[in-house]
Amino acid sequence: MISSAHDGSANTQLNRAMTSDEHIARTRKHVRTRLGEEVTGHDWWHAHRVCRSSLEIGRQEGADLYVVQLAALLHDVADWKFHDGDEEAGPRVAASWLRSIAVDDGAIAHVTAIIRDISFKGAEVPTPMRTLEGEVVQDADRLDALGAIGIARAFAFGGFRGQVLHDPESPPRIAVSTEIYKTQRGSTINHFSEKLLLLKDRMNTETARRIALERHQVMERFLEQFHAEWDGEA
Ligand code: ADP
Ligand code: NI
Repeated sequence: MISSAHDGSANTQLNRAMTSDEHIARTRKHVRTRLGEEVTGHDWWHAHRVCRSSLEIGRQEGADLYVVQLAALLHDVADWKFHDGDEEAGPRVAASWLRSIAVDDGAIAHVTAIIRDISFKGAEVPTPMRTLEGEVVQDADRLDALGAIGIARAFAFGGFRGQVLHDPESPPRIAVSTEIYKTQRGSTINHFSEKLLLLKDRMNTETARRIALERHQVMERFLEQFHAEWDGEA
């Protein structure tokens, strides 16, 4: 278990309160520069939305909002999907940034652990988070894969990867292991079955579960209409 507490005397707490805000502001700017040109849905505005939802959920759940914001902002700075499958790239790049702005070692360890554990890895692969802060950021990240924005991001990512929209001749495929999930190439419509429609049941917090349910219904309506149009029935 990684501690999220920032202990110390009243004085160091005061210093931390000032530097914490600065750490977050500088990290926002850094992530915006680094992810600005990203076109697959893992862009700055994704980080921004995840940070905003993390704050909302984190407040409700009583999480350490300093760690939550840093992890939310940095969680996609170097995703394994864009670094030859290297799952350590994200934690490494985030740690090196946080060291460069003198974030303390405990917070760096906590943030990098969240980034290491956060990703979806297949339908039957559990992805438990070690701390409340991790649970909050994972929920916020997953909420951004749902609803209208989730649909838009899935097709943006599918286009980037060269996936077809839909393949009516292939039955839905669900990856049960991480290896299959990482290498399998299906249609973007299949991505709803292999991941997006499963997320509402994999939320960690009650706050996120409520939002996920609404966004799940948006996707179900979309899929119904998609298939009706595809079949010439709408
Ligand atoms: P995680 O945050 O769990 O790592 P990903 O980075 O895999 O999630 O997913 C982020 C976004 O990319 C999601 O909105 C998801 O729908 C989209 N995405 C990931 N894999 C695919 C895929 N094979 N087809 C379409 N969209 C995908
Ligand atoms: Ni993300």
